[in-house]
Amino acid sequence: MKIIMLGAPGAGKGTQAKQIADHYSIPHISTGDIFRANIKQGTELGKKAKEYMDKGALVPDELTCDLVMDRIKQDDCANGFVLDGFPRTIPQAEALENALNAIGQKMDFAIDVDVPDDNIIGRMSGRRACLNCGATYHIVSIPPKKEGICDKCGEPLVQRDDDKEETVKNRLSVYHEQTQPLINFYQERDILRTVDGTRPMEDVFSAIQAILGA
Ligand code: AP5
Ligand code: MG
Ligand code: ZN
Repeated sequence: MKIIMLGAPGAGKGTQAKQIADHYSIPHISTGDIFRANIKQGTELGKKAKEYMDKGALVPDELTCDLVMDRIKQDDCANGFVLDGFPRTIPQAEALENALNAIGQKMDFAIDVDVPDDNIIGRMSGRRACLNCGATYHIVSIPPKKEGICDKCGEPLVQRDDDKEETVKNRLSVYHEQTQPLINFYQERDILRTVDGTRPMEDVFSAIQAILGA
């Protein structure tokens, strides 16, 4: 099963993608997580990506597309994968489509996790993330068992650099300009499904399971 998670920054793409990956035993591929891991390790890619991410802008397509195309060719993706945060522009969606076409494959579903802008700022300011294992929490709605510590790996939790209010506003406007057109793109291909992302996390996952089956 090959799935794309669509949705605004903070809509819950990562939260749901992790559950999908666990439940269906397929890899979770988050371009944001890959860039953040590179920033942490101080790689050349990380240095370049950080310039854009700190402003809330998109990392250029040429840095992003090859990375994903290489990743989905790996053995663990043979039974499918869930893409989180990619594609984010029409050229990225076309690159993905062409790469899959070339091997006689296509995406199965694009799931839009729908959350209005008004809900987003509060979610982002409360988000805490583990840079070690990628787990995400919210200080009010999804708190860790021990404050400031990751339940899964015990590392300290941090606030993401791009979760400041001004940057979040910029990420939202970038989303509306460059990523929202993908909703139409996948609607035309008849694989778009929408879930209400304002519901509690478990309900959103049930809605996704109803779409994906089993
Ligand atoms: P990325 O890391 O993808 O960030 P994003 O799209 O802005 O999305 P987020 O990760 O912020 O939100 P999410 O939807 O995953 O929500 P989450 O589950 O964490 O990208 C970061 C940057 O990298 C971009 O700005 C760009 O610069 C660059 N980049 C990445 N991919 C790129 C690409 N393809 N091309 C170019 N540039 C790229 O949830 C948010 C919060 O809400 C959490 O605290 C969570 O606990 C809470 N929450 C989740 N679900 C619920 C619920 N149902 N109810 C209540 N709270 C909830
Ligand atoms: Mg995310
Ligand atoms: Zn962790």
